[in-house]
Amino acid sequence: MVILYHSEPKRGAHWQQQIKQAFPDIEFRLWPEHGDLNEITALVVWQLKPELLAQLPNLEVIFTVSAGVDQIPTEYVPKNVTLVRMINTDLEQQLTEYACMGVLNIYRGLPLFTAQQRNHHWKPWYCKPANQFNIGVMGLGQQGKAVLRGLQQFHFNCKGWARSQHDLEGVDCYAGAKELSTFLSDLDVLICLLPLTAETKGILNQDIFKALPQGASLINMGRGEHVNEEDLIEALNSEQLGYALLDVASVEPLPEQHAFWSHPKVQLTPHIAGITRPEAGFISLKENIERWQKGLPLLGVVDLNQGY
Ligand code: GLV
Repeated sequence: MVILYHSEPKRGAHWQQQIKQAFPDIEFRLWPEHGDLNEITALVVWQLKPELLAQLPNLEVIFTVSAGVDQIPTEYVPKNVTLVRMINTDLEQQLTEYACMGVLNIYRGLPLFTAQQRNHHWKPWYCKPANQFNIGVMGLGQQGKAVLRGLQQFHFNCKGWARSQHDLEGVDCYAGAKELSTFLSDLDVLICLLPLTAETKGILNQDIFKALPQGASLINMGRGEHVNEEDLIEALNSEQLGYALLDVASVEPLPEQHAFWSHPKVQLTPHIAGITRPEAGFISLKENIERWQKGLPLLGVVDLNQGY
């Protein structure tokens, strides 16, 4: 069994070591040392070029190092190849931390106090009780659910929206286009944790911003392409939106001239909300390799028709 790894080199070297110990019969090759491509039965990748896929006649499975798989050209993945995304509790924990950090900052007025401090302005502002602060999470997969559980600990009023109906304890759930405006109508903070698909590309546009109460905030922990960036800047400038915390952008790294860099109502982070750490990621990979060897169903299999 031969696995080819094509992603961040340091993590690859760590996993190569770990594989050697855990699976002496598996060869774990690090790109660009791919050897004979006919021997490769599994890939471990972040991005993937169709040209590489075309050279792997015996490929059975693709493990992504990411939770999102939008960077994989799924239309080129043969039907007999299983695509698996990274699922681990460490990733969920990191995303929960990030969401709580962002929401608590907004809830307690830190963007306002930061601006006031710049002007040497001492002026109290008092937040409302947490159970009157409405937070809506778009995307109710593993990560959306984990983030909601984290936010519930602060007694915020939590709502969720997804394509299909969900039933989550203590969360008002909404489904589909029909219920979207009701979901948005009273939110203080909207958090995006959707997968990026043809359907969700550009979903965070002026229609959504207008459906939110004036002054609401946005936290985007999904993908940059979920956002219509021009509409977002317009919504911030017109004060329809109060603030945006963005971990992702449509072009990364963000181009030098981009308006987000210096916008007073935008806080940027460079795609760090949740990363696959070598140790935690290996636990997930190991579990799936064991399952693969035993012919058991893998964890995190992507539905190629749905794209997540
Ligand atoms: C990171 O963005 C991921 O998809 O894991």
